[in-house]
Amino acid sequence: MNKAIDANTWQMLTKNAQQAYQQAYAPYSQFQVGSAALTTANKVVQGCNVENASYGLTVCAERNCIAQGVITNEGDSTVEFAAMVIYTEQEKLTPPCGACRQVISEFFPQNAQIMAVNHLNEQQQWTVAQILPDAFTPYDLINKT
Ligand code: THU
Repeated sequence: MNKAIDANTWQMLTKNAQQAYQQAYAPYSQFQVGSAALTTANKVVQGCNVENASYGLTVCAERNCIAQGVITNEGDSTVEFAAMVIYTEQEKLTPPCGACRQVISEFFPQNAQIMAVNHLNEQQQWTVAQILPDAFTPYDLINKT
């Protein structure tokens, strides 16, 4: 079962996502995105979008953040995440793209919370199940629920 995330933790994740936002490499779209996630082992990891002159090779902040979590995971157990923040400086809050929703579904429990936040501290939250209902996950590969 996933534990509830308190207001201080959301604030701390938001600060981390804001910091990651400053590192974004987005010379083509100028659309910077920062992300931060909490692992179930209570580690905080960050990610920013990294674009490429071959545009399709761009990697979103969320997927880079998850990769960071995989890297920092100690031992041989698979990393799991409890929450993620996506930070942009857009008036319209930024939801995760479709590719990121699939990758989030690999590593986050269905009831984990994903929060979009902007520079005005406007917020929107979804569960993982809400952003990608009936996701194809590792459980499908082993025919388990
Ligand atoms: N982007 C992200 O990093 N995350 C999202 O949730 C939406 C899109 C990036 C990809 C690209 O570098 C730029 O934003 C514009 O699509």
